[in-house]
Amino acid sequence: MPMGTLVFLALLSSAAVVACHGACPSGNREHCHFDAGRRERAPDVAAALQVSHQTIDTSAANQSKLATDSVTQEGFLPRDWPRDDESRSPSVHDPCPDFLLQNRLHYRIPLEPRTSPAKVIDTFAFSFASEAEELLLRFYEMGEEVSEFHIVEGDRDFTGAMKPYNFEALLNSGQLDPWRNKITYHQVKIPAGVKGYALQEAQRQALRAQVNSFRGYNKDDILLEGDLDEILSHKLLQALKTCKPMNNIWRAHVRMADLIYSVAWTTGNVSFGTTFGFFNEGGALAGVGFVRDEGFLHWDHELSAVDGSHVAWHFSFMLNGPAALAHKIFIRTESRPDFAKEFRTEDDLATFIASSFYADPSHHDHPIFPSKLGKKDLPQALVQHPEKFPSILRNVKW
Ligand SMILES: *[C@@H]1O[C@H](CO)[C@@H](O)[C@H](O)[C@H]1NC(C)=O
Ligand SMILES: *[C@@H]1O[C@H](CO)[C@@H](O)[C@H](O)[C@H]1NC(C)=O
Repeated sequence: MPMGTLVFLALLSSAAVVACHGACPSGNREHCHFDAGRRERAPDVAAALQVSHQTIDTSAANQSKLATDSVTQEGFLPRDWPRDDESRSPSVHDPCPDFLLQNRLHYRIPLEPRTSPAKVIDTFAFSFASEAEELLLRFYEMGEEVSEFHIVEGDRDFTGAMKPYNFEALLNSGQLDPWRNKITYHQVKIPAGVKGYALQEAQRQALRAQVNSFRGYNKDDILLEGDLDEILSHKLLQALKTCKPMNNIWRAHVRMADLIYSVAWTTGNVSFGTTFGFFNEGGALAGVGFVRDEGFLHWDHELSAVDGSHVAWHFSFMLNGPAALAHKIFIRTESRPDFAKEFRTEDDLATFIASSFYADPSHHDHPIFPSKLGKKDLPQALVQHPEKFPSILRNVKW
């Protein structure tokens, strides 16, 4: 297992790709969704990337040995070492009828039980220690069902300025110990001049190339591509593991509630949330653009709960509090939101956020409104461990 593996990726191309992801980690949602709808197919950056890995942890050498043994002309064989989930007894409740998979025309594609559970591989980017609370929520809610977490981190922020790698300190803090043996951490060197969405895309492409090179997966295992702050419920992940569409095509994204500043506020639902599919969908194994980019145009299936309950959420602009939010606003790709324009320093903005803004964000940011979500509408990890999530649960009264 890739315990604490540290892999270096050399990014030798500065191919500029303007990618706009559904959750827009750095910015303006309306703008982002608008662009997403119009976006041209991204050039194939993977081909332009030359990836070299230097494996630090020797357990990874074992992993790649096993993986290499399994490579065939097709790219992979079903892995023959044990899966941790096979030892568990099957759950009594069949989640498949609880979920709704629809295509763009709202035609329903029925789900049915799989013969054996999928492995769920989660992939996302990490940048700053200020994302720790959101990251922790991801592990608390998704950690049990996800088999592997692949986390990529670049050495530049969204403005293109150099930044230190921050994830290792968090990994070594003890907070992630329950999930540590599921985590593989990938560092990427970002070439000078790459910033904004191109930087985000470069990180994602490097991560794809890495995940592909492990090849320890079955073609019907599930690959998730989302942002750190897009959380899928435990229940939804169980469905991804144990159900499949009758036509064997996922190529889907997840419907997500868009919560902002804390779970008390929302902007509605995210147009294109986390994308997912079978490992062999979308050419992931060939290294060409996978679900996340294609999702906006071609991956038009949407998964939601039949009863209309929330099963996934985007926790946007929450971070670890006022200073973190002020920093994110200062380095975001898009122009600052109106409420932040008059502040000259991050400290001034942070003071305003703490002293006035949080009391009623809808007074300053007009498209948002109270979410009115109760305990049953949120990740159960928030309900079970509220003390761990003070920023996310700010001003929430249950
Ligand atoms: C590699 O695999 C061998 C045989 O399975 C095992 O004995 C050894 O402890 C493993 N090494 C690491 C670093 O995981
Ligand atoms: C948002 O998602 C929820 C949960 O799936 C759903 O009940 C609701 O109708 C959606 N709202 C809109 C405006 O699509």
